[in-house]
This record gives sequence, C-alpha cells and structure tokens, in this order.
Amino acid sequence: MLLEGKNAIISGGVQGIGAATAVEFAREGANLCIVDIKPENEAKDIEEQIRKMGRKTIFSKCDISSFADAERSVKTALDEFGRIDILVNNAGISRDQVCWKMTEEQWDRVIEVNLKGYFNLTRHVAPLFKEQKSGKIINVTSINGLRGKFGQTNYSASKAGVIGYTKALAKELGAFGVNVNAVAPGLIETSMLRESDSRDKIIDMAMNEIVLKRVGQPEDVANVIAFLASEKAKHITGEVMKVDGGQYI
Ligand SMILES: NC(=O)c1ccc[n+]([C@@H]2O[C@H](COP(=O)([O-])OP(=O)(O)OC[C@H]3O[C@@H](n4cnc5c(N)ncnc54)[C@H](O)[C@@H]3O)[C@@H](O)[C@H]2O)c1
Repeated sequence: MLLEGKNAIISGGVQGIGAATAVEFAREGANLCIVDIKPENEAKDIEEQIRKMGRKTIFSKCDISSFADAERSVKTALDEFGRIDILVNNAGISRDQVCWKMTEEQWDRVIEVNLKGYFNLTRHVAPLFKEQKSGKIINVTSINGLRGKFGQTNYSASKAGVIGYTKALAKELGAFGVNVNAVAPGLIETSMLRESDSRDKIIDMAMNEIVLKRVGQPEDVANVIAFLASEKAKHITGEVMKVDGGQYI
C-alpha cells in the first residue's frame, strides 16, 4: 500500500474530487481527517466507506477561508492522530461572471476560499512538517489557472495564484524534506457538472479539446494525488501535474 499508516487532512472531502481522494487514500492505508464547510451528516457515506476499509476517520466542520477555523481543524486532526503526514488542499468554489459584471463579493469569495483557504490550512500544518522533517502537500488547482477561462477571471486568478504559492512553498519547505506539488484537473464529472442544466453543452465543448475523448472522473485525479502523497514521488516537488486527458496541451 502506498500510504500505509499515514495521517492525512483533506479539505472539501465530502464530495467530488475530495471524496474520491479520501476513499483512495483509505484504500492505500491512510487515516483521514475530512475538513468541509458542509455538516458532518453529509460526510457519513464517505466516512463509512473509510471505516469499512479499516482506517480511522474524523470530520472537522470548517470554512477554510477562516484562519481560526483552519487552525481548529488542524488541531482536531493532530489531537486525534498525534501526527499529520499529508495535507490535500482541495476545497474550491466558482462564482462565474464576465469581469465587467462581476460583483466585489463574487471576486472576494473565490479568492478567499480558493487561495487564502489554502494558505490558512498550510499555515498550521507547515510548522509541524518542518519540525518532523517530512510531509506532503498537494494543492488542487485547475488547467484554467494555467490558460485562463472566459467568465472566470476570479477563479482563474485564484488557481494561477495556487500555482505560484505551490512553487514558492516548495522552495521554503524543500530543505526540511517536505514535497509540495499541485494537480491541475481539466473537466471532471463531479456533482457540480452532473446537476448543471448545461451539462451536455459543457461536455460537448470540452470534448472538442480533450484529446483522449472521455470525461475525467474524480478517481482520475484521486489516483494522481495519492501518487504525489506517496514515497514513489519523493523526488518531485514544485510540480504542476495536469490531469485533463490532454484538454490543455
Ligand atoms: N470538477 C472539475 O471539473 C474541476 C476542474 C478543475 C479543478 N477543480 C478543482 O477541484 C477541487 C474540487 O472540485 P470538485 O469539482 O470536487 O468540487 P465540489 O463542489 O464537488 O466539492 C467541493 C467541496 O469543497 C467544499 N467546500 C466549498 N467551500 C468550502 C469552504 N469555504 N471551506 C471548506 N470546504 C468547502 C464543498 O462543501 C464540497 O464538499 C476544487 O478546488 C476545484 O476548483 C475541479
């Protein structure tokens, strides 16, 4: 198993890519602290799957845009497990609008969650990783942070910010044996897409770009995150790995 006995924190672990990553981590032997803004009852299904695999799981309700919430979640995980080995910054939101119509609230909320939220959890985990001289941080960005997307100046800026943050953090923590990497998914079929009225239109447009001609699934991203969290990726840091079926080449 890739992650035997490791303890991981995953933000946004209740659904989508975060939930698939939590399940994959458990399959590979890790215990999980699921951090999410949603109530704990919505995490029951994922927690049950993790426990069935014989791993420990705890839930910490947290708005990652709050520094105090993030500190409390890291403390909860540390109190429960005694040590943290992996942080997956995954929780993210979008509030799409063309720039000339975007409200200040739409801009601020996306930056607060997608960018500051990643700092908030990292800020409380980094001293632990530095002290123990090991740790893995994986940040979920997006191909739209690499190429920009119409109607998503706020989202694209936040995800581009995550890439700069990943590279700077890799330089700061490398000397302490800590790997910091990012994954950049293309279109992935999560509930956001499944429940969208424009699902078929969005898929049609993406299919013109996706060279592998399939829609990405949360598990496709989870597999890469698990690899980056493992010792198999011990010589990789500051990297941005696209998981997009060739959507952005
Ligand atoms: N789905 C895609 O096509 C796609 C593509 C590229 C990148 N991504 C990125 O992948 C990550 C996961 O996306 P997803 O599609 O699984 O999304 P999702 O909406 O299915 O899940 C996101 C999870 O984050 C939680 N969350 C939202 N705001 C939060 C906050 N302030 N504090 C704590 N938790 C919060 C939600 O409750 C939810 O459980 C995001 O960062 C997203 O930007 C997704």
